[in-house]
Amino acid sequence: MSVKVLTFLAFFSIACYLFFPSYSPNFDIFANSVIGVPPVQSKQCDPDIAPFYIYDLPPRFSEPLIRNCSGFNPWKNMCPYFENQGMGQPLNKSSWYNTYQLTADMIFHGRAINHPCRTKDSSSALVFYIPFHTSLFVHAFGSDNNIARREAIWFDLLDHISSLPTFQRHGGHDHFLVSGHMAWNFIRPPKKDGEPSRLNDFLKFPQLSNVSALIIERNTLSNNQFGIPYPSYFHPQSDAEIRSWQDEVRRSDRTHLFAFVGGARHKGHGAESYRTAVISQCNRTESCLLLQCNFWGAVWDEVDEILGTLKRSHFCLQPPGDSSTRRSIFDSILTGCVPVFFTDLSAYLQYEWYIPERREDWSVLIGPDQLYQIEEVLSQIPEKEVERMREVVIGMIPRVTYGHPNATWAEVGFRDAVDTALVELTKRARHIKDGTDASLEN
Ligand SMILES: *[C@@H]1O[C@H](CO)[C@@H](O)[C@H](O)[C@H]1NC(C)=O
Ligand SMILES: *[C@@H]1O[C@H](CO)[C@@H](O)[C@H](O)[C@H]1NC(C)=O
Ligand SMILES: *[C@@H]1O[C@H](CO)[C@@H](O)[C@H](O)[C@H]1NC(C)=O
Ligand SMILES: *[C@@H]1O[C@H](CO)[C@@H](O)[C@H](O)[C@H]1NC(C)=O
Ligand SMILES: *[C@@H]1O[C@H](CO)[C@@H](O)[C@H](O)[C@H]1NC(C)=O
Repeated sequence: MSVKVLTFLAFFSIACYLFFPSYSPNFDIFANSVIGVPPVQSKQCDPDIAPFYIYDLPPRFSEPLIRNCSGFNPWKNMCPYFENQGMGQPLNKSSWYNTYQLTADMIFHGRAINHPCRTKDSSSALVFYIPFHTSLFVHAFGSDNNIARREAIWFDLLDHISSLPTFQRHGGHDHFLVSGHMAWNFIRPPKKDGEPSRLNDFLKFPQLSNVSALIIERNTLSNNQFGIPYPSYFHPQSDAEIRSWQDEVRRSDRTHLFAFVGGARHKGHGAESYRTAVISQCNRTESCLLLQCNFWGAVWDEVDEILGTLKRSHFCLQPPGDSSTRRSIFDSILTGCVPVFFTDLSAYLQYEWYIPERREDWSVLIGPDQLYQIEEVLSQIPEKEVERMREVVIGMIPRVTYGHPNATWAEVGFRDAVDTALVELTKRARHIKDGTDASLEN
């Protein structure tokens, strides 16, 4: 299966859109993140996380993105989803937000700003963070057919970063950036009819060749892209909150063997066969809960329906869609529902920093020969085994969750998605010798 073909088809069908009343962009989106909130009182830095430095990018790298926050999507005003440091609008429950799937980079930034391991002195930092908001960039400029205009800000960023002495010292090996968009959104396909429709292959520019890109869907051939979770709806502020949620999903009454939340794909789409197989099998058995995505509805807005469906099921089907990964994988972990994959590319080759080493401990892989025997395969897994897997999945919740950016370290008390990434980046940074990354040379 070719990921490129799969993903190429669907820039505009990533999710389902709904017309939204006009909305004026909130120019304070970055007020709290870039321009600097006073740091929250924090406890000590985790010894496994090196002091890191966040560059203060000039406003020319953020303002045009905010001004154009809805430029990409003519059908729906996306600006509200970028507010609250990328968490979107608060839901009617403390620490829950209507979070859009493609804002991980903004949420990451919000968490990093108040992080106890952040240093404001670049000379004492081991790791450097380039806090460019890639997801807003794709939204703002991704559909602009004028390539020069579309890419100007990116070239400007590359020049800016690579001219810094802190960058040059180790050739960028100790630097990272975060992307809330999939790798394929940064690739410009070869010109066909002179109408290139995508962004350039940004992550491959020579200036970035040593920089770690933390990304929700990596190009699995790349050795400097690392998968990070898609954000889900829960942004806990404390250990107590996360424990209480874990207890809630542990006790949840799972009335169905499996569930699928998502939509069909049209004929000829790379994922058509997976989606058709999954939906038809789910629809025909009482053991499956089906929540169909209506193409014209903003599906991620239906938080209660989505999480309620996953919470009532033992297994949650995660077939490829517009690309090989899905936000639903993380919604499913959040609800203690054991994910069922149909390809290695959906998680095993993506989220190495976050998932257990043994795939069978927390998930099920259904191969092409079993695509039409989903219920049979799942119903043969002994109950004890299902419980054991679920417990592993529930244990994964803290580290795939993005904590609330304003939570204090003292309250948090668990390693979230951002901490987990910083621990891994620290390991890499500690391998840097003589301007090269020694960890890559074995
Ligand atoms: C994006 O913002 C710039 C100003 O920063 C503006 O000139 C341009 O028209 C905007 N583009 C879109 C698509 O709104
Ligand atoms: C975080 O705290 C700052 C300062 O009190 C506040 O302005 C901001 O809205 C808070 N962020 C969120 C997402 O609540
Ligand atoms: C939030 O939920 C509570 C209890 O269900 C309800 O009374 C309240 O009106 C809701 N608030 C909003 C803003 O929806
Ligand atoms: C990347 O690292 C290599 C050595 O590993 C170095 O030769 C090269 O100049 C670095 N690239 C940049 C843009 O600094
Ligand atoms: C589910 O099955 C019913 C009855 O056979 C059918 O009418 C309906 O269209 C099916 N729905 C889907 C989504 O396939």
